[in-house]
Amino acid sequence: MKIQNRRYIGNKKKVLPHLYKAILENQPQDKKNIVLADLFAGTGVVSEFFLEKGYDLIINDNLYSNFACYQAWLSNEDFRQEIIDKYVDEFNKIDSTKLENNYFSEIYGGKYYSNNDAKKIGYIREEVERTKPKIQSREYYSLLASLLYAADKAANTVGHFEHFLSSVPRDNIVELRSPLLKQYKSKITTYEEDTNKLAKKIECDIAYIDPPYNARQYVNFYHVLENLARWNKPTEFEGSSMKFKRDELKSVYSRVGALAAMEDLINSLDANLIVVSYNNTYKAQSTASNNRIPEESLEQLLEQHGRVKKYEIPYKFFNAGKTNFADHKEIIYTCKKVR
Ligand SMILES: C[S@@+](CC[C@H](N)C(=O)[O-])C[C@H]1O[C@@H](n2cnc3c(N)ncnc32)[C@H](O)[C@@H]1O
Repeated sequence: MKIQNRRYIGNKKKVLPHLYKAILENQPQDKKNIVLADLFAGTGVVSEFFLEKGYDLIINDNLYSNFACYQAWLSNEDFRQEIIDKYVDEFNKIDSTKLENNYFSEIYGGKYYSNNDAKKIGYIREEVERTKPKIQSREYYSLLASLLYAADKAANTVGHFEHFLSSVPRDNIVELRSPLLKQYKSKITTYEEDTNKLAKKIECDIAYIDPPYNARQYVNFYHVLENLARWNKPTEFEGSSMKFKRDELKSVYSRVGALAAMEDLINSLDANLIVVSYNNTYKAQSTASNNRIPEESLEQLLEQHGRVKKYEIPYKFFNAGKTNFADHKEIIYTCKKVR
C-alpha cells in the first residue's frame, strides 16, 4: 500500500510535477541540503515527493490521524517488515461475526460502517495498542496507519465523514495492507501543531503553505479517523453525524480570521522562499465553498514580502471531471522573500 491510497480532499498528488517545477525555478541554487517545510501536510504526499528528491523535510499537520501516518510513511526510524506483515496477516484473519460490540461499533456501527465492520475496526484498534510495548515505534505507527487506511476504504460515505450515506451500511471488507515503507537518508522532523505557532520556532529554506481555503473544517471531514487514531474514547458526540468535541482542532483558516492568520504566518516564517497553493472555488454557489481568502488579498499580501510569481495550472490536470466548476483554478504562488 502506498501513501496516496486514501481519500483526502485537497491532496496535491496530481499537482506535484507543477509544484516541483515552480520550486526548482525559484529555490536557492547554491545550497546543498535544502530544508522544505510542508506546513499543512495532510496526507504527506508532498513531503514524500520531496524526500525522494533528497530534500530535508519539516512535516506538520494539526490532526493526529495525519501525524500518526507520517510516523509510518515518512520516518528515519528502523522497522522490521516481517513484524508488520505478521500482525497485518493476524488482524486480517479475525472473523468479525464472532466479536462482541466495542467502543467503535457502539458509536459508528449502523452509520459509517456495518456493525460487523465497526466491531472489527474497534477490535483491531485495541489490539494495535496492546501490541505497542512489544514492537518498535515505526512498526506500531505502520499498523495504525494501515488500520486508518482500511477504515477509510470500508466507510459508508462519499469519501469523507461530514455525514454517512442514508442507505444502511453493508458489510465491506476491512482489510489491512502493509505499507510499502522506505528508508530515507534526508533529515525528517514531524510536528502535530498549529502552523502559526510552529512557524515562530522553525527555520527552513522553503515553506510550503497549503491550508484549507473554505469553511469546511478538515476535522469534520475526518473526525471518525481522528477518533480512531487518538483512541482516548470520548463519550460526548454532536448530532446524528457523531462528531466528538473537537473545538481545539478547528482551523482558523476555515474561519473569518483566515486572512489575518495568513498574514501572521507569512510574517513569522524564517524562509527564503514561500510557496503557496491556492485553489479558487470563490465563485462556487454553496457558502461553505466560498474562499475565506480572496485571490487578490493573497497576492497583495505576498507582494509585501517579496518577488512573487504566479503559476496557474489548467484544471484538466487535477479535476477528474466530477465537479463542474468551469472556473476552478489551482494556482501556485512563489514568493522570494526580500530581507
Ligand atoms: C488542503 S489540506 C493539505 C493537503 C496536502 N497538501 C496533501 O497533499 O495531502 C490542508 C491541511 O491543513 C491542516 N490544517 C488546517 N489548519 C491547520 C492549522 N492551523 N495548523 C496545522 N494544520 C492545519 C488540515 O488538517 C489539512 O490536512
